[in-house]
Amino acid sequence: MKVISSVDRFVATHLKSKELWERSLKVSRGMHHDSRFNQPFPIYASYCKGSRKWDVDGNEYIDYTMGHGSLLFGHAHPALVKAVSEQVSKGTHYGAENELALEWAELITQLIPAAEKVEFVMTGTEANMMIAHIARAYTGRHKILKFAEHFFGWADHFQVGVIAPYDKAVAGRLPPSVEGAVSDATVVVPCNDEAALEAALAKEDVAALFLEGAGAHCGAIAMPPELVHKARQLTQRYGTLLVIDEVITGFRWSPGGYQAVVGVTPDLSALGKMVSGGVPGAAVCGRADLIGMLEIRPGQPEWNRYRRVLHPGTWNANPISAAAGVTMLKLVATGEPQKRAEAMAERLVAGINRHIEARGIEACAYNASSALHIYIGKCQKCDRTLCLDATKTMAPQLAQALDRHLLLNGVSMLRGTIGWVSAVHTDEDIHRTIEAFGAALDGMLEEGAINAPKG
Ligand SMILES: Cc1ncc(COP(=O)(O)O)c(C=O)c1O
Repeated sequence: MKVISSVDRFVATHLKSKELWERSLKVSRGMHHDSRFNQPFPIYASYCKGSRKWDVDGNEYIDYTMGHGSLLFGHAHPALVKAVSEQVSKGTHYGAENELALEWAELITQLIPAAEKVEFVMTGTEANMMIAHIARAYTGRHKILKFAEHFFGWADHFQVGVIAPYDKAVAGRLPPSVEGAVSDATVVVPCNDEAALEAALAKEDVAALFLEGAGAHCGAIAMPPELVHKARQLTQRYGTLLVIDEVITGFRWSPGGYQAVVGVTPDLSALGKMVSGGVPGAAVCGRADLIGMLEIRPGQPEWNRYRRVLHPGTWNANPISAAAGVTMLKLVATGEPQKRAEAMAERLVAGINRHIEARGIEACAYNASSALHIYIGKCQKCDRTLCLDATKTMAPQLAQALDRHLLLNGVSMLRGTIGWVSAVHTDEDIHRTIEAFGAALDGMLEEGAINAPKG
């Protein structure tokens, strides 16, 4: 019997998406961000509710893309819909201060240990960009230090050390979009290398060390908690500011983010995604004297013109973002939704790993809090709770094949390999997802997308 390829099945069941994608190619590159992993073309969603997503062809998915991690309560949570709709009817931009944004900042200071003061921006990228500006202005130093693989958005200085080979020293060049703009200002040390970290800090020319809370790519390459503590000591010793990026981990790992779990208080943190409850919005929080670098000081023209950090921005502290943010932060404050989501993620991981083992495939599933990671290949340092293998690489074609087979079986993950489990995924969702993974692995084996099982 002739086997119909997964690409042919995908095309046959996504004709309307195909039509929209072909239309969009005439006016754009035909996709936005991670939907490039949907191959041969992206799905076009029409509606989302709770844990489910539907596309324009009427296909239903159990969704784990979850607003790229911003939706702990699933899609269109009634409290968020109400808060945002009410705010839209009152105005989308006041051109004046609003009380909701004040309440939003108060909630952040109550929840996040580092947050003595807060400043609002619109994206996680902007938050980290602002932190780099504050750190430079405060310390008078220029360098930014990061581990290879850690991701902080796409501002100039953070485009370094994300894609191997990791830095100018190794690759000899940077992409033309950032070459010259960043020169040698970003220093990249190998992921989780404590000695290299200390050597770089000991030069005493680093303004800030940026860490992705819980490790690179939301814990896909975890960071040992001892190293986070060590980083705190070393940054204090060498006069460098410590930044923990909580764009993903903030409020998801715990109401106080990753820093509350690991017990390390950074000088500054970037907050995004969940902070604004699934609508655009982000924040910088940290020590009052550091956020004070943004202050306009009456009667101090020298400060205002030459020392102060600028922060214009049409959408800063927007009332719609504030309405969603306040609603979300009140819902997460108990810590219960996070516990539920993490427990669901653990069940999912156990079930997926059972399918992997039953088929003898070299692969694994693991979770970092409620973030789910799938890796197909050989992993060196993974006990399926904390994966420390910084050398693992998975070919994009493999992730694309997994993504397609999962979509064909009714599951939507980011790049086929990352998922965010929410507090509204049900027992039935988890059961069906585990079954879908089994079917997806069988489909991939049948097509030869994954190699023959190990010995
Ligand atoms: C850890 C981390 N920092 C920063 C960013 C950038 O945030 P944004 O996409 O809102 O610019 C992301 C985005 O996924 C992220 O994962």
